[in-house]
Amino acid sequence: MTVSTGVFISFEGIDGAGKSSHIEPLAELFRQHGRSVTVTREPGGTVLAEQLRKLVLTEPMDGLTEALLVFAARHDHVRRLIRPALLRAEVILSDRFSDSSFAYQGGGHGLDVTVLAQLERWVQGSCDAGEGRLLQPDLTLWFDLPPEQAALRLAHARSPDRFEARESAFFERVQHAYVVRAGEAAGRFVRIDAAAPRSQVWEQVVAAVLSRGWLV
Ligand code: TYD
Repeated sequence: MTVSTGVFISFEGIDGAGKSSHIEPLAELFRQHGRSVTVTREPGGTVLAEQLRKLVLTEPMDGLTEALLVFAARHDHVRRLIRPALLRAEVILSDRFSDSSFAYQGGGHGLDVTVLAQLERWVQGSCDAGEGRLLQPDLTLWFDLPPEQAALRLAHARSPDRFEARESAFFERVQHAYVVRAGEAAGRFVRIDAAAPRSQVWEQVVAAVLSRGWLV
């Protein structure tokens, strides 16, 4: 008999990379395989965290304030939603997780990575991940798209929020931070070529999940 365990998958990438449109289809695929799925997002996912999201996306603030707010939101999200769902052996699909903080607050704003690593230890180290271990996604699907292409897609799509309105150099730094982070956590990151046509992006997503043996 297979004992079902929780599966935690995060979706990452710069704004405009197209990650969000693959989350519901992946949730549906897991459901077809008999799994209970929780779809969530960051900042957000709980009542408190959604309120913090609103602040972060609309109020002008510096990088440290942003980091403190997104990690406060994450703490509530992990404690009230992610960890209980994993304990129920569910599949959690999260539109962003802490890699976004390293990319946006670390890369984009240039906030000291040691500050982020400390916040990560406080928030993700306090949830029974095991001695000295952090709660991290089992798999991070990183939608990799050159920033100039992402900007073009966004320009056609909608009016920008506070983040999306930033200058292109900001997104270059965000992108670079993703490259660094993907290198540091190579076992967890799978790079998705987000410049490919949509159907091929979806095929890459399914292949990444199949390779982990979660869709049997
Ligand atoms: P996202 O949900 O991808 O935006 P949208 O709903 O507009 O597609 O992400 C919201 C923004 O929050 C995004 O620009 C990145 C930013 N963000 C951070 O700066 N730090 C974080 O830790 C997280 C989770 C998100």
